[in-house]
Amino acid sequence: MLNRRDFLRFCGAMGAAVSILKADAVERVAEAAQSVADRSPEEVARDEFFWREVQLAFKLDRTLINLNNGFTCPTPRVALEAVWRYMDMINMLPVHYQGMIARNVETIRLRMAAEFGCDPEEMALTRGASEALQIVQNGIDLKSGDEVITTEQDYPRMLTTWDQRMRRDGIKVTRLQFPVPTTQDDLYQRFEKAITPQTKVFHFCHITNLTAQLFPVQRLSRLARSKGIVTIVDGAHALGHFPFKLRDLECDAYGVSLHKWLLAPIGNGCLYVRREMIPRFWPLQAAPERQDADIRKFEAIGTHPWAIRAGLGEALAFHQAIGAERKAARLRYLTLRWANALKKHPRIRILSSLKEPPETWGVAAVNIEGIDVRDLARFLMDKYRIIAVPLVGGAPPNPVFDYQALRVSPNVYTTLEEIDTFVMAMEDALKGGVPSNLAAARRGPVDGVDWTDII
Ligand SMILES: Cc1ncc(COP(=O)(O)O)c(C=O)c1O
Repeated sequence: MLNRRDFLRFCGAMGAAVSILKADAVERVAEAAQSVADRSPEEVARDEFFWREVQLAFKLDRTLINLNNGFTCPTPRVALEAVWRYMDMINMLPVHYQGMIARNVETIRLRMAAEFGCDPEEMALTRGASEALQIVQNGIDLKSGDEVITTEQDYPRMLTTWDQRMRRDGIKVTRLQFPVPTTQDDLYQRFEKAITPQTKVFHFCHITNLTAQLFPVQRLSRLARSKGIVTIVDGAHALGHFPFKLRDLECDAYGVSLHKWLLAPIGNGCLYVRREMIPRFWPLQAAPERQDADIRKFEAIGTHPWAIRAGLGEALAFHQAIGAERKAARLRYLTLRWANALKKHPRIRILSSLKEPPETWGVAAVNIEGIDVRDLARFLMDKYRIIAVPLVGGAPPNPVFDYQALRVSPNVYTTLEEIDTFVMAMEDALKGGVPSNLAAARRGPVDGVDWTDII
């Protein structure tokens, strides 16, 4: 039974549900946020009326349960419509409007820098994290024998980039292994012990794309700096997911996929480079010498769709309307809901930290003893239409690890019903087992999806 306060809020939410279909989602969500401003993020995380507002800001296919938001996410309609608008506008007279939008997008640089805590002159806008990270990975001078220390659980494309430099320049790449979940101290010590006189670069994830293992970025950056080592941090999954300020990390470079947790239109990413370090990295596409210390040298990629970058402005406004703390608390609430429900079963193993203070928000990994995770993923899709990615270690240059897990990543538009369906499906698998079809799974895609491409 609803009490009066809940009832009023419910009426407000229903009114909003109707008007949100026509009006500006950013405004509606900001109004909802205003109405809960006196409550803690943890309290708002449990307020379904508030999250209903957020859910309605998206056009989704709810016939499927999407628990693979770690790959890429739908952007809210307000940002998608902005892309269409800018596309239309530019297309009227590209030679005129393209340049104009390019200049106007400087306002997005300012807003991104203010939101995520750096100088605007340290913020480059890119097409994704692969581009951002490869700019610095390929752009740093390294000679034969120089060493890069990274991990076996870094992103495949980034490991492949170092592998290519190994083949091209004769550098040495050391890949550290670690158990999951592990502690910040353990990760720190593994890097510290691995340093040699030849070590020139540390490259690691802020949180991994596998089990979302959190790394002690500031401590590792300080250690690196004290020894003249450059830190490149893969923040593909971190920015817009849980709150922190870039400058507090003290790393040298940080690459992000904005189409993941910031919910920006696909084709958006960013690269933070500490100001003094900008001249140390060559851009991917050549720039004039006068731009050596200019962050914009990393952005020159020729003619490209500026409308996508312009749409980032609305995604950022949407993120700000929800509020970074509220968003992180909700993502954690969704994760704890399924993880706490499942962990009581003796055959369930959670491979992400659930401890306090939080180190896990919207991404966590789980497995069921005795069931191959590829069979489990196929079962979830076939019987329950749930999309979640099976993680299985590969061979170099891809990540090498010895566990199997299902990565579960809901988002701000995920409903409690969807989470509970996932719990029910996992309990079904625990109780009745799942059909084994490993030979088919190894042969290729489940329902047209090639898992190796979507983590
Ligand atoms: C850890 C990590 N790094 C880098 C990337 C590449 O990001 P993008 O697809 O934006 O190029 C991903 C994408 O999934 C990732 O998970």
